[in-house]
Amino acid sequence: MTTFGIPAKAAIFAEYSSLKELSEIYKTDVFRDNEVLHIGGGSNLLFAHDFNGLVLHSAMKGISRYDKDEDTAFAIVASGEKWIDFVEWCINEGLQGAENLAGIPGETGASAVQNVGAYGVEAKDIIHNVECFDTLTGTTITFSNNECRFAYRDSMFKHEGKGRYIVLRVSFRLRKSTEARNLEYGPLKKFAEDLGHIPSIRETADEVTRIRASKLPDPSVTGSAGSFFKNPVVSTYFYNDEMVCKDPDIPFYKVDDHRVKIPAGWLIEHAGLKGYRIGGAQVYPQQCLVIANTGDATAEDVINLSRHVVDTVRRKYGVVLQPEVNFIDTSIEITILGSGTSKGVPEVACACRVCRSDSQFDKRLRTSALVRTHGLDILIDASPDFRQQALSHDIFHLDAVLITHSHYDHVGGIDDLRPFCAEGAVSLYMKEDVHNDLGKRLDYCFRENPYPGVPTLKRIIIDGSSTFFINGLKIIPINVMHGKLPIVGYRIGDFAYITDAKSIPEEEMTKLEGLKVLVINALRHRHHFAHMSVEESLDIIDRLKPQDAYLTHFNHEIGLHSELEKELPENVHPCFDGLKIHLS
Ligand code: EPU
Repeated sequence: MTTFGIPAKAAIFAEYSSLKELSEIYKTDVFRDNEVLHIGGGSNLLFAHDFNGLVLHSAMKGISRYDKDEDTAFAIVASGEKWIDFVEWCINEGLQGAENLAGIPGETGASAVQNVGAYGVEAKDIIHNVECFDTLTGTTITFSNNECRFAYRDSMFKHEGKGRYIVLRVSFRLRKSTEARNLEYGPLKKFAEDLGHIPSIRETADEVTRIRASKLPDPSVTGSAGSFFKNPVVSTYFYNDEMVCKDPDIPFYKVDDHRVKIPAGWLIEHAGLKGYRIGGAQVYPQQCLVIANTGDATAEDVINLSRHVVDTVRRKYGVVLQPEVNFIDTSIEITILGSGTSKGVPEVACACRVCRSDSQFDKRLRTSALVRTHGLDILIDASPDFRQQALSHDIFHLDAVLITHSHYDHVGGIDDLRPFCAEGAVSLYMKEDVHNDLGKRLDYCFRENPYPGVPTLKRIIIDGSSTFFINGLKIIPINVMHGKLPIVGYRIGDFAYITDAKSIPEEEMTKLEGLKVLVINALRHRHHFAHMSVEESLDIIDRLKPQDAYLTHFNHEIGLHSELEKELPENVHPCFDGLKIHLS
């Protein structure tokens, strides 16, 4: 059911052909107890592995027409209708608006999520409203075009609405005319000029289909997901100052007075990657924005090739390409960026045997971690050592930062988030007290008309007791006590991260049941008023019984890493800087 043609299995699959059937599925335990993924035509998905959850698909069909006045008609299209069938219907009905979008694979429901676009037109230009099923309330809700917050290949359904809303029907506003209108896109302009008359919607759709076929692989023959990357949008300043000097011919399209969009296909081709292969995956020679499955590609081949493309383009042009394709990857990779307490190990001006140790395992930067899952890169705490950590772990992109509390050793690196603000504000999730503290400490970032070089940060307040979502990923805050200060840890799937706790209230312990991996702080063996000792952490681990536990946030009194490792129970491990933990 995906156009890449790379096999993956879903543990459970369900299809519905009416709202009634969807409501019935919604009421089942299967819906409640599983990770749910809704798919459309599968033209924008790459499964990294089998999906251990429920895959839902709409088989809702039907297109109805409502004439508004003599110029305008609405088409109400069920989510399971193929996009190409809808475009064909418009042409047969003599309705103008969708002809430039001929030949796009996929289904109508997904077109609203993805805001599909081609040849100078985006779905948002003709979408009137979108009717959805709300999985939080079990009711239907209709969003106006504005409320969908459409942007280039983007909408709110890919952010706060992800996982919550299921598109049922899309209503399009179309012109009653057989004459095409959007002919500004280079090749179409030339086509119209050569033709000598304004092309009809049929002629335009046929020409678009012809251009597409000359550049893009036919999904029924060669697997692909269309454009693999988005065209990057950069500031005009960056384009003129950093890119033009590398190649004065880099094409661009003006977005607004401050930004330009650059064709990623051009960058990939000029980085020397046309036709480049890894295993069965290939940069498609006719359009380098596409990664094609030449027959026997695995998801790993595609992922490795996409990483190689991103790396090569970054090195040559300084631009980090973002995939347009949705990676379905429920595995979790945690990188321990720092495992030391506030002073780090070695401590400044200390000559103890731990601080003098030559072993890399005894060098501990201040505590923070990077979590990679569901295609997202999430940082937990920005320690004062973040700059060094980002450099040594090749961090090029962040989707969000989760803050546990506002002590300096957990937030001192926020200013170094600047490089990640180039594509927009970095979102920081935090409790209200942290929000207030950061407002005072980093006031230069939050005042009106700040100095242009400061990081642009978006502070998102969490209440500590409610689950929240980052692009559809469920995050459960865990309230713990750091001495007398209430702070938060976080649970993501079967992984939880707790730092700086002295105790965990009973009601919060239940949120930590059934974990595969628990990362938890243990300062040293000796008692401390605000941090758990190794013995106190082991007690918690013994009660929670995660499959594996990792201790972090050590000071130098913890002793040598090599000795600590031998003292701990079999499923408990000391963290070290650079440790990677994988959960499948
Ligand atoms: N170019 C190259 N080398 C390449 C590819 C492109 O030099 O390998 C140059 C072209 O010569 C042209 C420019 O880059 O000057 C733009 O190329 P093109 O017109 O093919 O469009 P694109 O920006 O590469 C976007 C969409 C396509 C859509 C086309 C046409 C994205 C990510 N992709 O591609 O959408 O069909 O415009 O409108 O915005 C899709 O989303 O799956 C898709 C195919």
